[in-house]
Amino acid sequence: MSPISPHGSPPDVGVLLPAAGKGERAGDGAPKQFRFIAGVPMLLRAIRPFASHPRVRQVVVALPAKDASAPPDWLAAVVGDRLRLVAGGATRAASVRRALDALDPACALVLVHDAARPFVSAAEIDAVIAAVEQGTGALVAVPVSDTLKRSEDGRHVLATPSRAGLYRALTPQGFPRAMLAAAYATGGDALDATDDAGLVEAAGGTIVLVPGRTTNIKVTTPDDFALAEALARP
Ligand code: CTP
Ligand code: MG
Repeated sequence: MSPISPHGSPPDVGVLLPAAGKGERAGDGAPKQFRFIAGVPMLLRAIRPFASHPRVRQVVVALPAKDASAPPDWLAAVVGDRLRLVAGGATRAASVRRALDALDPACALVLVHDAARPFVSAAEIDAVIAAVEQGTGALVAVPVSDTLKRSEDGRHVLATPSRAGLYRALTPQGFPRAMLAAAYATGGDALDATDDAGLVEAAGGTIVLVPGRTTNIKVTTPDDFALAEALARP
């Protein structure tokens, strides 16, 4: 029998953390997921809120192949039944698929979270789980707040599209496991999808928006590391 969590529900949530990218836009140095933010590796910051969540049964991290077989000490120290490492693939979608294939079959709900988002909150995780329990896919999202401009050459403005009804897609994104597996079965690896909800939408699945925090940033560029240092300050 599965243990019952303090929330009263069994820990039946699986978490996939794609962390197999090269971090090319982040500039020189180690791949961004291994870099430290205020003394703590970014990947560890992304893992912790899930690993400590009472509903989470298992976390599967997709890493560059050489790191999956020889992880850094701080990661090797937390590997076990509840935290597995797998080799990722050439695209984010391929990495997510490999992590999904390795996930404990007892996980009926699946969350996918970018290793490059080190500031996810327990409230965001709770809200996505609650939405997925209604049988739909769900993602953390933030309304677009800037005015938008369209340009083809990056200099001349062609149009000012309305931002009404537009949202930025963050992670975590969550799905009933069968919904995510079906979307990946229809060729997820082939697409350079940056977003799992997009694959599920293309496969006909219903997705709902869960309000997120603008501080749940994705660390992409060197500037983002400066912002992350500031956000991590106690
Ligand atoms: N990712 C992955 N496997 C890949 C590519 C990306 O697991 N083949 C992961 C990244 O490690 C990251 C997340 O997907 O946690 C979001 O991708 P992104 O922010 O684009 O990271 P990178 O691809 O590493 O960065 P860049 O595009 O600048 O090279
Ligand atoms: Mg990328």
